[in-house]
Amino acid sequence: MKPVIFGMPGNEAAASALSRTLGAALGEIEHRQFPDGESYLRILTPVSGAQVALVCSLHEPDNKILALLLAAAAMKDLGASSVGLIAPYLAYMRQDTRFKDGEAVTSREFARLLSGSFDWIVTIDPHLHRYTSMSEIYRVPVGVGHAAPVLADYLRRKRGEVFLIGPDEESEQWVAAVGASAGVPYVVMRKSRRGDRDVSITFSGLEAFGGQRPVLVDDMISSGHTMEVAVRQLVESGFAAPICLAVHGILAENAKTRLESAGAQVVTTNTIPGPAAKLDVVPLLAELAEVELARK
Ligand code: R5P
Repeated sequence: MKPVIFGMPGNEAAASALSRTLGAALGEIEHRQFPDGESYLRILTPVSGAQVALVCSLHEPDNKILALLLAAAAMKDLGASSVGLIAPYLAYMRQDTRFKDGEAVTSREFARLLSGSFDWIVTIDPHLHRYTSMSEIYRVPVGVGHAAPVLADYLRRKRGEVFLIGPDEESEQWVAAVGASAGVPYVVMRKSRRGDRDVSITFSGLEAFGGQRPVLVDDMISSGHTMEVAVRQLVESGFAAPICLAVHGILAENAKTRLESAGAQVVTTNTIPGPAAKLDVVPLLAELAEVELARK
């Protein structure tokens, strides 16, 4: 029996591409909101006895999580033999410690929720910083793919000399992997964050790169303030218009427009759909899902 891949709202294109690549069936799910805001879900494709995977990229997670958990529960209730989650972007990884007294360590609680509803999960470049492995917080297998070779391939296709900048210490693992894969040098800056939209970056060590185009590399562009501050400082210092290259383009609060107005070009993978999502990670997700589906 073929596995069945379902796309949650907004993930239809990824689900369809994944079902083709995996040779799986594409499932249909009806999801609408009752007038009072509750979710109505109906699984239109039979799942009894089938391995099932739901595709749901988890940017803006609070708007999605309940319907996702309800859909997973319905699949099990209808007899699916296993239910996996293909989450190209996995949210809530950054609150990986209690920075201030009383804070919820939401990465752990989110992991507990997903682990209780899915048999396996696959994702691309989760923000593993203080955790070194997903098994520290997830109780089910989590297949992790890395987009560095995809970003590096994009850089190899660019003309002219470029160098990479990681805007903060947390970006080092990503900028180092992309630099190694593309054979391009990188430097890492120091950032201090005073609030969600208030960051400053100390630049140093750029003297050697005069005349080259800077490429800012990070795992994600969220509000875009990290990238925006970096772009403005680079342009003010006389560098050519930078490229902002990231795995996940959350791009909240018109970040793409703000970055472009500051003189940058924004390029991300398609873990989150949108106009900057130019680099395809579906083959990577398919490989990871294939491994999980083969376990049963
Ligand atoms: C943080 O550690 C991440 O790697 C990103 O640098 C950060 O999340 C970007 O956030 P924002 O776009 O809101 O400045």
